[in-house]
Amino acid sequence: MLGEPDTTLEQVPISPIPAVNVATVPQRSPLRYPGGKTWLIPHIRAWLSGMTPKPGLLVEPFAGGAIVSLTAVMEGLAGRSLLSEIDRDVAAFWQAALCHSDELIDRIQRFNPTREGIERLHESAPGDVVSRGFRTLVLNRTRRGGILAHGASLPRIGEAGKGVASRWYPETISRRIRAIAKHAHRIDFRQTDGLEIIEQLPPPRNAPTPTAIFVDPPYTAAGKQAGKRLYNHNGLDHPGLFQRLAQSEADFLMTYDHSPEILDLTRKHNFHAKRVNMKNTHHAQIWELVITRRPVF
Ligand SMILES: C[S@@+](CC[C@H](N)C(=O)[O-])C[C@H]1O[C@@H](n2cnc3c(N)ncnc32)[C@H](O)[C@@H]1O
Repeated sequence: MLGEPDTTLEQVPISPIPAVNVATVPQRSPLRYPGGKTWLIPHIRAWLSGMTPKPGLLVEPFAGGAIVSLTAVMEGLAGRSLLSEIDRDVAAFWQAALCHSDELIDRIQRFNPTREGIERLHESAPGDVVSRGFRTLVLNRTRRGGILAHGASLPRIGEAGKGVASRWYPETISRRIRAIAKHAHRIDFRQTDGLEIIEQLPPPRNAPTPTAIFVDPPYTAAGKQAGKRLYNHNGLDHPGLFQRLAQSEADFLMTYDHSPEILDLTRKHNFHAKRVNMKNTHHAQIWELVITRRPVF
């Protein structure tokens, strides 16, 4: 209709790269992250390997399980990565994994994941970073859906009737942490606001190699308010995020669920959006947006 804003999903072109079956991508994060982006990895590979010269730095301002940075660093798609995460518990996990991996692995190996043990850990308020990071890992691996937000519960039955420990795989988790420790000299972490990190990036013309930013903000823009249930830090100034990305001049790739507000912001800043079809467990069609500064896909 004439004069109607051009914000319907159907007007967004479909990405030529399909969402991948997550079983075909190496799982590198020790955290099970709600809203995790393993499905996006083929887009990330295409985006970063298309940059010349190769990005010296990949910034991931909303780290969560940090799957994109881990993949980029381990696959040599970026020289270094800088993660930021505002949640104190998630931050403690990354500080422990990057700086105290041996101690963290030792705790993992010694832990007996009984319901009582997990509940005791939940009630505890550890002061040191390894204990706090370990607590985050255990709660993330044992709670329903990996949800760390207040109010999340332990499953009653668990996967294959194995109870609360059904996703506690000490060997696999330790192996992933060892792999991260091997690359830790190329991964920086800050517990801070992702918006500030973007704001503080030096202008690309002052950097010897390009900087890339992967942005996966907590989803609250679509009115579904899914982020509220999933993360303790779920409010975000979405227009402010778009504004900062526009000002940074850095190459970026951002994912969002579809909403008219997000498509409006994409258009306002002359960014490029593609949609990717995600099938949920009920085989319903769910579209996610992949937004970039330049046309990539
Ligand atoms: C959608 S999740 C990221 C998931 C991640 N891409 C993955 O694949 O695991 C968003 C994360 O941003 C964090 N967060 C929310 N607000 C933030 C802020 N202002 N600055 C930094 N992190 C923030 C949340 O705690 C959550 O861990």
